[in-house]
Amino acid sequence: MPVKTAVLPADDPAAIARAAEVLQRGGLVAFPTETVYGLGADALDAAAVGRIFAAKGRPADNPLIVHVAAPEQARALARAVPPAAEQLMSLWPGPLTLVLPRAPVVPDATTAGQDTVAVRIPATRPRWRCCACGRPLAAPSANRSGRPSPTTAQHVLADLDGVVEVILDGGPCAVGLESTVVDATRPVPMVLRTGGLSLEALRTVVGAIDMLSGQDPEAMSRSPGLRHRHYAPRARVVLVAPGEAAERGGSTVAVMSQQPRPPGFVGEWKVMPTALEGYAQELFAALRELDAPEIETIVVETVPEVGLGRAIADRLRRAAER
Ligand code: TXA
Ligand code: MG
Repeated sequence: MPVKTAVLPADDPAAIARAAEVLQRGGLVAFPTETVYGLGADALDAAAVGRIFAAKGRPADNPLIVHVAAPEQARALARAVPPAAEQLMSLWPGPLTLVLPRAPVVPDATTAGQDTVAVRIPATRPRWRCCACGRPLAAPSANRSGRPSPTTAQHVLADLDGVVEVILDGGPCAVGLESTVVDATRPVPMVLRTGGLSLEALRTVVGAIDMLSGQDPEAMSRSPGLRHRHYAPRARVVLVAPGEAAERGGSTVAVMSQQPRPPGFVGEWKVMPTALEGYAQELFAALRELDAPEIETIVVETVPEVGLGRAIADRLRRAAER
């Protein structure tokens, strides 16, 4: 049954009260975080969580992140909090998700049957507090499965109009990339997904940290999200080295480059920020914008893999996968 979708300002107390009411009766609310917009439901209500999977067309084996407002609320969802997880929690609120041993209160629907639960405290501004309903919120990115993550309320509306009851509009997301996911159940924590918090930032609070490698035979079971196609516009995405897009022009081509448009270039040319923070903020919006009906190929010049560049390069590689 289609619903009427309301887009309401995220800093308006009446809008927050309406969102809380929808969440309390098991409905879906899209909300802004510093990373990307989330599609939220009560994380402890299996039926409500089931509605998220249906709305997104999300594969049932891909677990959700649970958003909480305070560390105590995170601890209540975990059977135990290992020492490394305690250290990493000092980086909250922020673009960091911790995978912890799951407490029995968290339903299978939320964790896709995993014995672990992923939690984070988003640095949401305005702080509408994702516990508006007093409950933890399960939320994947508020896009249809496989599409670029939404970084504005308009992106959410484009994907989920008639599916989500309320979209809280908090403006463009400050970080623009999803959170970094760290498995904190291991003696040495492991980055399962690079994201808005860099490896360098993680290393300021924990001594040793591993990175999940695609070669790891257990990679798929450790990070179920890796199984699925991601971030892909309709047009084909092709990655080239910096400086190489100039030769790839054509009337059905769009380029994303940190360089200015070369003289005489035929096609769209989108100049991306040189600073990686700015690039990250604009990445998903640029992929959506360039994915116009007449465009067949989006040619993207790669970025250096340092700091946020690791997560940007990861999203670009996944967008280019077929
Ligand atoms: O920034 C973000 O993380 C955004 C905002 C809304 O918080 N959310 C987000 O959710 O990106 P989603 O569902 O698009 O990605 C969640 C990732 C997936 O790769 C999933 O496999 C992984 O987190 N994940 C969730 N629970 C997990 C668990 N128990 N063990 C391992 N990976 C888990
Ligand atoms: Mg997602």
